Amino acid sequence: MVEATKRVLIGVGGGIAAYKVCEVVSTLFKAGVEVRVILTRSAQEFITPLTLATLSRHPAYTDEHFWQPTHSRPLHIDLGEWADVFVIAPLTANTLAKLAYGMADNLLTNTVLASKSPVILAPAMNTDMWEQVAVQRNWQHLLLDSRYHAMNTASGLLACDRVGAGRMAEPPEIIAYVQSLLHTAGKRDLVGKQVLISAGGTREYLDPVRFIGNPSTGKMGLALARAALHRGASVTLVHGPASWDFPLGVQAIPVVSAAQMQSSMLKFLPNADMIVMSAAVADVKPREYSQQKLAKRSLPESLALEQVPDIVAELARCKQPHQQLIGFAAQTGDIVKPALEKLHNKNLDAIIANPIDEADSGFGSDNNKAIFLDKQGRQIAIQPCSKLEMAHHIFDFLLNT
Ligand code: C5P
Repeated sequence: MVEATKRVLIGVGGGIAAYKVCEVVSTLFKAGVEVRVILTRSAQEFITPLTLATLSRHPAYTDEHFWQPTHSRPLHIDLGEWADVFVIAPLTANTLAKLAYGMADNLLTNTVLASKSPVILAPAMNTDMWEQVAVQRNWQHLLLDSRYHAMNTASGLLACDRVGAGRMAEPPEIIAYVQSLLHTAGKRDLVGKQVLISAGGTREYLDPVRFIGNPSTGKMGLALARAALHRGASVTLVHGPASWDFPLGVQAIPVVSAAQMQSSMLKFLPNADMIVMSAAVADVKPREYSQQKLAKRSLPESLALEQVPDIVAELARCKQPHQQLIGFAAQTGDIVKPALEKLHNKNLDAIIANPIDEADSGFGSDNNKAIFLDKQGRQIAIQPCSKLEMAHHIFDFLLNT
C-alpha cells in the first residue's frame, strides 16, 4: 500500500522567531512531508518568501497572491482544504487576537477559517506582551476550540534582551507535534488521563566516577512522553541521565539509580492511569560504594554485585486494577519468548519487545521496530518507524483493548 503524502501548511507571523521556522520547513521536507507556507505582511520584514520557497520547494504565499485574479479557485479555500495539519509559528499577539475573534483580513487568517484541519499554535512575543490580560484572555478563549493545539512558550533570553516567558517552542518540539498530529489527525483521546513514563538508563556507581549502566538514551521514553502530551494527557517522565530537552508541559523528574527511579515511580503511581516502564534499568549494582574515587591500583579484580529492585514488578504489585502497566523488553535473538515470560512473570498488562541487535533500532536510534504483546493474547508487529510513530502505535493499541 502506498502511503498518502502528508501535507502541512505553515503560517508565519511577524516575529523574530520566524527564522526558526526555516528549520521546521526544511526538516519536514526532508522527512517526505509536502509543505506549503503562508507569510503575513510583517513576517516578510523578518524573513523572505524566497527562503521558505527554496526550503519547501514550492512558492511561498503572501497577501499579494491572495488578491491576484489568476487562481481558478480562491487561494485560501484551496490551501485550507489541502492541509492535513496547519501550524502557525510564530503566533503573534495580533494574529492570536484575530483568530480568537474569528477575524479574516489577510491570507493567513482567511485560510484558517477555510480549513478544518487541526492547528498547532506556537506563540512568541515579549514577556510583557504575552502576560497582558488581553492577550491571555484571547489565548484562553481560542483554546476553548479543540481544533487549536497550544504549544507552551518557554522562558529564556528574548530578542528584547529580557529573560522571561514568551520564547517560541524550539523547532524539534514543533516538528514532533506536527508528526503526532499527522498520525492522530488531532484527536485527543488521552484528555483527563495521567500517564507516567520511565525513560533512559539508570546508573549504579562504584565510586564517584565509575558506574554500571547501559547505552539507553531515553529517546523511546521521550517519544512516549511527547505522544501522550500531544494526545492530551498529563505526563510525568521519570528519567535517567539524558542529553535532550524536555517537552514543555511534561513534568520531568531526574533520577540516577534504580532505587531513586523506583521511589519516584511509586510516588507518582497512585494518580496514574497508564504507566509505561521504558527505562533500561541496570539490573545489578556494586555491593560496595566508595565515597572517594578509587585509585586504579585499588580497583577490585572482580566486583561483588547485588540485585537492584525490579521496579515494574513492584509497580505491578501495588497498582489498582484500572491502571494499565506496560513494560519494555529489549532483546537480542528471539524477542517474543522472553517478552512473553516477562509479561506473565512481572504481571504486566502489555509489553513491547524490541530487538537491540538490528541496524537502526533499539538503543540510541531515532527509529525502532517491535512486537506489542498483551495479556489478552494479542501479538502485533510494529514495522520499522520513528520512535514517535511507535509511541503512537502503542497508545493506539492500549486505547483499543
Ligand atoms: O531488564 P528486563 O528485560 O527484565 O526489563 C523488562 C522490563 O522490566 C522493562 O520494562 C524494564 O523497564 C523493567 N525493569 C524494571 N526493573 C528492573 C529491571 C527491569 O522495572 N530492575
